[in-house]
Amino acid sequence: MKCNQGVRTSAARDVASWKLVLALICPVFLAGVSVAVAQPTDLKTFAKARGIDIGVAVSFPSTGRAQFDSTLTRNFTGMVAENDHKWGNISSAPGTYSWTNADRIVDFAQQQGMNLRFHNFIWHQQSSYIANGHSNGVAQPTDPNKYTRDQAFTHMRNHIGAVFDHYRSKNQLSVFSEWDVVNEATARDSGNDDTAHLYAGMRRSTGNALNLDSGLSRWTGYTQGETHDFDYIDSAFAIAHRNDSTARLVYNDYDAESRGKKSDAVYNLVSKLKSRNIPVNVVGMQCHWYIGPSNSGSSGAWDPQQVRENMARIGALGLDISITELDIRYQNPSDSVKRAQQSAAYETILSICLAEPHCKRFYVWGIRDASSWVISRFPGYGSPLLFEGSGTTYTPKSAYYGLISVLQSGTAIKSAPGVRNRAFGLSFQNTEPVRDLMGRRMSSLPDRPIFAAQKGASLKTSPNASR
Ligand code: G3I
Repeated sequence: MKCNQGVRTSAARDVASWKLVLALICPVFLAGVSVAVAQPTDLKTFAKARGIDIGVAVSFPSTGRAQFDSTLTRNFTGMVAENDHKWGNISSAPGTYSWTNADRIVDFAQQQGMNLRFHNFIWHQQSSYIANGHSNGVAQPTDPNKYTRDQAFTHMRNHIGAVFDHYRSKNQLSVFSEWDVVNEATARDSGNDDTAHLYAGMRRSTGNALNLDSGLSRWTGYTQGETHDFDYIDSAFAIAHRNDSTARLVYNDYDAESRGKKSDAVYNLVSKLKSRNIPVNVVGMQCHWYIGPSNSGSSGAWDPQQVRENMARIGALGLDISITELDIRYQNPSDSVKRAQQSAAYETILSICLAEPHCKRFYVWGIRDASSWVISRFPGYGSPLLFEGSGTTYTPKSAYYGLISVLQSGTAIKSAPGVRNRAFGLSFQNTEPVRDLMGRRMSSLPDRPIFAAQKGASLKTSPNASR
């Protein structure tokens, strides 16, 4: 099933159906919506009224800041750096940091009173020197420029600590509403993975045609013939928690929204993290989706009912859900029918999020179509976002108005997630005593994984395993 199908709230469904009918009988109608209808008021007004945090990924343009900033602050309650907080963007070598662009985003969010998601600590892309784990999918343990597993863990610990220390020193930790600690750890082909590991279906250092895993091989130990149950994930969360015990910590992934092998892998991962008291609070559902025919080899199909079910089972674990990177592309050229279908899809996922008590944030991956990553990544496809235009023009699209109609149509008010992470409280107990907010005991902890099945301890049978 494609994303424009499925159950919505009746009001949202009515609005979407109405638009679709108009689009079919009068194609110029919807084409004209985005320009003919004055912006009634701003998305943010309606988001606040419903108590949901609606945010957007931000890359500040080099020109036209006034219009960009105005669109951003008038419409969104939250933001996330599209690239500026990634490891490779702030640190080119161990201990070497360039904070200028990263700080600009944090300062802006603070000045505007916006929520800020941190994206991200551990990822296999844009990971700078940590990507030196292996070359072309083959481990190079004897290469002095490549890291051992212990060294990789040390870099991870130091990097996470450096970011927390930096924003603590600026008294800005409270600006961050949540932190993407581990990003996209499951394999694209999760189903072919073994069951020998505690976290089945994880991305491994070899066997991925796109060779996406370069940074993680030394952490997983896989290329060295070791198996560590992918405990770099445990350690990343534990390290983040030790640096700020009140931080909301996120596992974030794509193509794991509907039911399937990849979402099962994520569910398996987070349920085991939870049961072992690894501090994770939120599952991030990226939602890079499409309508109409898929481009070959791409992902992004989804099923509304399955998304609902998947959110419900994650919520039942006591975890919150954030929609973190939503965009809905379609094949060029754009037309009124596709616009209507896209709007219906946006409305559907917002309706699902509003109806699910644990879904509290709704973030779109960019403001305007022309700047979306989709343009270069999926040639022939585009139009994924809520605004269009060029230069200094930011014109709201049908989907923008569709979101407003959904926000207007319901009465339920969510428990506002938006203020700060402190409002959530903590839902886990870390079995390893937290020394202080600075994590000063970190130096006494091993660089090796903290919760690893070392010395014969079995993670599988010892839910409260501690060091
Ligand atoms: O900044 C350099 C610039 O100096 C250089 O001239 C130019 C030449 O290509 O590259 C610029 O860097 C690019 C960067 O975006 C900033 O525009 C990188 O090449 C490009 O790879 C990078 O793409 C980002 C991508 O992550 C990296 O894999 C996209 O903007 C960003 O939207 C995308 O976001 C990811 C999320 O982090 C995780 N989930 C999937 C999502 C989409 O891939």
